[in-house]
Amino acid sequence: TLQPPPGQNKDTSVKLVNDAAHPWIAPGKNDIRGPCPGLNTLANHGYLPRNGIARPSQVVEAVQEGFNMENNLARFVTYAAHLVDGNLVTDLLSIGGKTGATGPNPPQPAIVGGLDTHAVFEGDASMTRGDAFFGDNHSFNETLFQELVSFSMKFGGGFYNVASASELRFQRIQDSIATNPQFSFISPRYYTAYAESAFPIAFFIDGRDTSGNLNLDVARSFFQNGKMPAGFHRANITTAADVVNNAPIFEAHPIQPGGNNGTVNSYTLDPDSADFSPSGFCKLYTDFVTKTVRGLYPTAKGPLLTALNTNLGFFFGAIADQGCTQVPPFV
Ligand code: HEM
Ligand code: MG
Repeated sequence: TLQPPPGQNKDTSVKLVNDAAHPWIAPGKNDIRGPCPGLNTLANHGYLPRNGIARPSQVVEAVQEGFNMENNLARFVTYAAHLVDGNLVTDLLSIGGKTGATGPNPPQPAIVGGLDTHAVFEGDASMTRGDAFFGDNHSFNETLFQELVSFSMKFGGGFYNVASASELRFQRIQDSIATNPQFSFISPRYYTAYAESAFPIAFFIDGRDTSGNLNLDVARSFFQNGKMPAGFHRANITTAADVVNNAPIFEAHPIQPGGNNGTVNSYTLDPDSADFSPSGFCKLYTDFVTKTVRGLYPTAKGPLLTALNTNLGFFFGAIADQGCTQVPPFV
């Protein structure tokens, strides 16, 4: 049975989260980790099951408890990922690669491939992970991390902050345009790329520190090792939400959705993709449901159809106050 997502935690205080009950333990050889440094960290500290397989409701609970991510954002991101990467019937999601541990496969074209699956949620121009075209879209990449370091030195006074994040986001897009013939930068990746550039500022800085500056050793600890520093306190929930919702990283170098055409340096705008215009957010939602998700489940029937519609309901619930029209349940 599907467990509904929890609501907002009652206690949203800035508190110690690298505590005795949540020690960092390196993943074992059968434990799954993936492209998200936030979820890898939560699994390494036992906020998520250490094997890297979780119910979406557990993911929402964990990102709230461990990082103070606000409830609506937590539900939106989690159900978006679960709808395209998780097993909707068994209610299990791999935070990395595909595994039989999430249960029996539904009929193709469904993938149920975990967060490593390319192009449905994970996408190109990540900060510390390579593009899928180059063969590994999920492992920490030292060369890319060195680019984060050099941009932080050059533009952020030695820190990852809004100034350096803005330049690095733009650079990673330029890198992909120049080197990845299959570079794709359309919705939903177009949105997640900018959001994820803000996440380290929102969530990897200790909540007692109001500087907006992420120390680079701390950044490495999260990105590479999925490890909270000693004494780490989770973010102030309001500050973190503001960092994610404000758009200075996009505004520093606005780029419209598009992609390369099979050759490098051929970036072409895609007018069909949702963008950051006022109507863009509802289009992101509608296209995600009617194209991306429905594309994976074009003919779902029976328990699979029920689970699909239930999860789509949880997903819409996260944005119910955003003024978008809900896509009717599939039949
Ligand atoms: C990237 C999933 C929450 C930090 C990603 C990616 C996925 C993902 C699939 C890969 C996208 C890509 O770069 O191509 C999720 C899900 C979450 C979640 C389902 C559930 C709410 C968080 C939280 C944090 C976080 C709470 C911070 C504490 C990041 C960062 C990246 C990322 C910084 C970018 C990594 C990079 O570009 O190198 N996430 N994430 N995420 N996530 Fe998460
Ligand atoms: Mg990626």
